[in-house]
Amino acid sequence: MAQETQLTNLGLLRIGIPQIDEEHRELTDRFERLLADPDASYGSETFVTIVTQITASLRVHFNHEEAIMRSLPMPDEELSRHIKAHDAILVECFQLHEAMMLDVPMSQSEVVLMIERWLVNHVRTTDVKIRAYLPSKIK
Ligand SMILES: [Fe+2]
Ligand SMILES: [Fe+2]
Repeated sequence: MAQETQLTNLGLLRIGIPQIDEEHRELTDRFERLLADPDASYGSETFVTIVTQITASLRVHFNHEEAIMRSLPMPDEELSRHIKAHDAILVECFQLHEAMMLDVPMSQSEVVLMIERWLVNHVRTTDVKIRAYLPSKIK
C-alpha cells in the first residue's frame, strides 16, 4: 500500500497542495499510458499525440505552480532556480517536437528517460522543496 506521503503512481512524493498533487498525478498518468501503449513508439501518431498533451499540460501546470510559489515565502533565488528548471524542461519539450517533425532518429529508451526527467525527477528533486514553505511548515 502506498505510504500517506506518496502518490500511488511512479512513487511521486506528495507536495501537500491538492491542485499541484492532482496535476502531478494527471501528468504521470499520461506518462504511464504512454509506457503501457504498445503503439506509442517514438515517431508514431499515438506517441506524438501523448507528447503533445503532456507538453500542453506541463505548460499549464508550471504556470499554476509558479503562481503558487510566488504566493509563498520562498526566497527569490530559489524561486528563480525553480522557474529556470521549468523553462529548461519546456525547451526540451520543444526540441522533442522539433525532432519528431524532422524525423530525427531517437531510441525509445532515450525519449522515455527524457520524459521521466520532466515528470518524475523534477517533482522528486525540485518540487518537493516547495513543502518547506507551506503555511503548516512555517511556525
Ligand atoms: Fe516544478
Ligand atoms: Fe510540478
